[in-house]
Formats: sequence, structure tokens, C-alpha cells
Amino acid sequence: ITPQVLAGKNVTITAGPTIEAIDPVRYLSNHSTGKMGFALAKACRNAGARVTLIVGGKVPIPTPLLVNRIDVLSAEEMLMTARQCASDDICECHDDHDHDHHHHDHDHHYHHDHDEFGNDIEVEPVSKATDIFIATAAVADYRTRDVVPQKIKKTQDQMALDLVKNPDILATIAKEFPEVFVVGFAAETQDIEKYARGKLDAKNLDMIACNDVSRTDIGFGSDDNAMTVFFKGKDAAVSLEKASKDIIANQLVSLIGKQLAGKFTL
Ligand code: PMT
Repeated sequence: ITPQVLAGKNVTITAGPTIEAIDPVRYLSNHSTGKMGFALAKACRNAGARVTLIVGGKVPIPTPLLVNRIDVLSAEEMLMTARQCASDDICECHDDHDHDHHHHDHDHHYHHDHDEFGNDIEVEPVSKATDIFIATAAVADYRTRDVVPQKIKKTQDQMALDLVKNPDILATIAKEFPEVFVVGFAAETQDIEKYARGKLDAKNLDMIACNDVSRTDIGFGSDDNAMTVFFKGKDAAVSLEKASKDIIANQLVSLIGKQLAGKFTL
């Protein structure tokens, strides 16, 4: 049984690649399969969290039980959905009872129910706003400036695509929602520690998990991963040795739980 280190927490996870359209039949993307993100969704759910999984591209993996999955295609759509999850501060309404009703009071939504004696009881509003944001998605860094409305014909021997930078979803959520515990991933092929710490600082993250994507036995697509994890304000790092993405995900969740509980010293 997994310890409930994330009991009652709302977790939002991005997973998979993004797809950036070129024309109606072509797109830019990458090799992310979504496996890491789906493993984390299960691990967070097992640790007691309410999980929303924002999935980019067209990931064919079945949705884990009790996980709220939202499919998007592009980076811009992923950012819009992540923002909504981060700020969605409304109560969970179980509208299965006819006699239920809601009213607004000081910007809070109170949920009324009846106890076993028929007395009206007021149920504490449950926030749906994200407490923890984990970015495993491999977001396309660039998209085409304009999506060509008709299929591009192969009349030229050479052609250039005009690309513009996509928004950084992780950095945006960290900046706009400073109360959220933000976990980044880093896919690097060299100077792992330098680049991972650079991203931790530049994007103002609480934690970053870095995988070496130059190895073909871990990272993109494989069932296994291995990570080095860095934390805000801490010099030391934690290495997670090569294991299945499910095991790595559980280890990451336990690190997040310890950080949140302030029980973590390095
Ligand atoms: O999906 P799998 O096949 O299982 O593979 C897993 C994985 C290798 C994709 C995963 O473990 C991983 O490393 N994900 C991060 C990939 C990545 O794009 O890293 P990055 O170093 O380019 O980006 C750093 C962080 O910023 C990431 O948390 C990324 O989600 C986030 N980011 C990046 C760019 C952008 N525009 N928006 C973002 O949110």
C-alpha cells in the first residue's frame, strides 16, 4: 500500500509531446510517448491526490483509473489548460441529489447536503486549484508562425519553415501561481547538472528531475528511466537508479511528499 503522502492534494501533470501544425496534414513533434507522465499520474493517485493529466499530441495509452484526463494538441492549448487547472478554485459538486443546491457567498461556493437525520448541513468547499504542478511533457519549443490553411504542394526543391518560440508552460505556471509546488523535468544529452540547475533557477522551480536522453535504454519511449533530482536552495542531489518508470514515479512522489512536509534534509 502506497503511503498517502499527497492525500487531499490537487496535482496537475503534463505528459506526452505537443503537436504543432504546419498545414492540415503535417506537423512538428517529438518522440515523447507519455509513459513517464502516465506513470506519475498513477503514482500521485495512489498517494491520495486528485490528479488531472493534460496530455499533448495523440497518446494512445489508456487513461488510468480515477485520473481526470484532458487531451490537447499544441503547446498553446496545453498552456491554456494548465492555467485553467491552476486557478480552478471551485467546489466539487456532487449533483446526484435532487435536493442539492448551491449559492454564492463571499466568492465561495458552499455545498449543502443533508445528514442521515435530514438536517441541512454545509459542506466545506473543496478547492480544485492545483497544489502541485509536474511538467513531464516534451513541449515543442517552436511552432510555425502561421498554419498554412491548405496542404502545401511539393513544387519547390527547397523550402524553409518560419518558426516562432512557444510559451514555456512550466515557467509560466511557476510565475503566475507562486503558491503552487512546481516540479520540472529536464531532458539533457550533456552537462546534465549544469543545465538542470540552470532550468531550476531560470524557471523558479521547487524541484527538477533530469534524465539523460542520449541513452537509448532510458528516457524517451523506453519503459525505464533514471534520474538525478535537484532541489531549490539545496546543493546536494538525489540519484534514482535505472528502474521502470512506475518505480521512478513512486520515488519522485515520495520526494515531493517529503519536500512538502518539510521533512527533507540534504
Ligand atoms: O514520454 P516518455 O516517452 O515516457 O519520455 C519521458 C521524457 C523523456 C519526455 C520525460 O522524462 C522528460 O524528460 N520530459 C521533459 C522533456 C523536456 O522537454 O525537457 P526540457 O528540458 O526541454 O524542458 C524542461 C522543462 O520545461 C520540462 O519540465 C518541460 O515539460 C517544460 N517545458 C519546456 C518547454 C516549454 N515550452 N514548456 C514547458 O513546460
